[in-house]
Amino acid sequence: MSFSCHISGFGHAVPERIVTNQELSEMIDTSDEWIVERTGISQRHIASDEDSSATLGAEAAKRALEKAGVSAVDLDLIITATCTPSGMFPSTASRIQHSIGANCGAFDINAACNGFVTALSTASQLIHSRSAEKILVIGSEVLSRITDWSDRGTCILFGDGAGAVIIERNEGSETGQIFPPVLGSDGGAAELLFASGPCTAPSDLLDQEAKIIMDGRSVFKYAVTAMAEAVEEALKKANLKAEDIDICIPHQANKRIIKALMDRLGLPIERAFVNVQKYGNTSSASIPIALSEALEEKRLKSGNTVLFVAFGGGLNWGAMIANWG
Ligand code: UT7
Repeated sequence: MSFSCHISGFGHAVPERIVTNQELSEMIDTSDEWIVERTGISQRHIASDEDSSATLGAEAAKRALEKAGVSAVDLDLIITATCTPSGMFPSTASRIQHSIGANCGAFDINAACNGFVTALSTASQLIHSRSAEKILVIGSEVLSRITDWSDRGTCILFGDGAGAVIIERNEGSETGQIFPPVLGSDGGAAELLFASGPCTAPSDLLDQEAKIIMDGRSVFKYAVTAMAEAVEEALKKANLKAEDIDICIPHQANKRIIKALMDRLGLPIERAFVNVQKYGNTSSASIPIALSEALEEKRLKSGNTVLFVAFGGGLNWGAMIANWG
């Protein structure tokens, strides 16, 4: 019998505390005007001492389960995309599994800002191979913990939050399908965007703490080209053309990157869902938060062709197209 897989539930959760550009301009040499003009960001949510990628992820997961009408005990797997896990191990996914009362397998994926597209790709392939029927996929980050708050070139960009979806097998249906994903990586350009960690060898330690280090200008250029090429390949695999894309839900890194990508694809900016102004760059949480809001606002509707596309540390990138059921 034919089947497809579709996203049946979604939800997001962000910390209460909002830090505005104005507040940042009192800490470092920057201004609201500069940040808005160069990035489109006006504010970001920042984790409290009690928040973690596990607590925010669990909250988003509960909302997604409720929307899907799925009980946590019926999940077959939990995949959490995060580059700011709650510890080296257990995984953030295992912590979330316990917190929501599930009793399935759980693991993390770290592909930096491309984490959610990578996790969703993995989940859809597990469903297509009939290894699982219901998977909870989460993107959750507390980037504020690895942000260098004295570096104005990076600290203005990042925020904290989580988004989650339930992806399920749809028996006897051809609609609501997820097309083959495209994933790419260039570890040779890792020095353009990285954060060292607690296991970094002392000889490799460029920075004593795990802080984000980035060459913003180079990342910007690389990101636009890599994402555009990934989208073109994903369109080819789906046998679609760029104009078939009804809505693009890109990684929310910077409004200018999103605009440059849409220009390269020959699509109007109105077809991209943008909420970077409210949350900043939340890495692997940015696409599921944007997806959740696009659905709440009814920007993404049944029958739409939706594109997910991301770029981040690794360097890593990915594109995925779905027909929204
Ligand atoms: O998920 C992927 C993660 N990374 C990204 O998406 C980052 C991609 N890159 C970017 O978004 C942009 O490169 C930034 C927003 C980070 C920077 O914008 P830019 O237009 O590339 O600026 P720039 O780094 O070339 O800096 C231009 C000027 C410099 O001053 P001078 O040398 O021209 O005097 C910077 O020192 O702007 C200065 N500058 C700032 N001024 C005020 C850098 N950061 C700030 C700041 N406020 N926050």
